[in-house]
Amino acid sequence: PQKPFQTKLVLLGEAAVGKSSVVLRFVQNDFQENKEPTIGAAFLTQKCRLEDRLIKFEIWDTAGQERFHSLAPMYYRNAQASAVIYDVTKASSFEKAKSWVKELQRQANPNIVIALVGNKIDLLKEASSSSNANAETEEEDDDETATTTPEATGDSLRAVPKDEAEAYAKEAGLLFFETSAKTGEGVVEVFTEIAKKIPID
Ligand code: GTP
Ligand code: MG
Repeated sequence: PQKPFQTKLVLLGEAAVGKSSVVLRFVQNDFQENKEPTIGAAFLTQKCRLEDRLIKFEIWDTAGQERFHSLAPMYYRNAQASAVIYDVTKASSFEKAKSWVKELQRQANPNIVIALVGNKIDLLKEASSSSNANAETEEEDDDETATTTPEATGDSLRAVPKDEAEAYAKEAGLLFFETSAKTGEGVVEVFTEIAKKIPID
């Protein structure tokens, strides 16, 4: 049997973006509607099997509330990976994510693998099904400009455009994902793609 390769990963992001929920989905395949805010930080582990290796993630799920900000360096200091999470329906959380990325790039291990993660995409899909229902009764609205409005694509709750976040991630050298801890969409991919990027000697 393969010996797991241990990888320290830190989760960062504004309060209530869903850091703990993303980890709960990854580690226990579970979701809680009313998750309590994290105090200080929580520690969890989960293995991730790739074709050629077994990675054991040692995950530090930090507290997003501002009063805990000064604790963060303790958790990212010798991390090999980080997932910086924002809420796709909340613009301020994307600004906060960018400031975490800057802090990591300045203060953390220079080889750290960083993933930028836009969470709560299920909220966009709920809006999508209701606006599709409306679209059927408004047939004259089928020119190209109409189909690309946020309402027409079901993204009326979206505050952070996907292409803008993706372009920022590319420029900053980050992996990029959109997820829903609620439905599980995209969550395993975040950790699998990070695992693939971890250098092993
Ligand atoms: P702090 O620990 O305070 O930093 O917050 P956090 O980033 O860990 O957020 P947490 O996981 O506690 O989630 C905050 C709230 O958002 C909870 O009520 C969750 O149920 C909800 N939530 C988290 N992820 C999702 C998601 O993907 N979709 C939806 N609809 N709600 C989510
Ligand atoms: Mg939390």
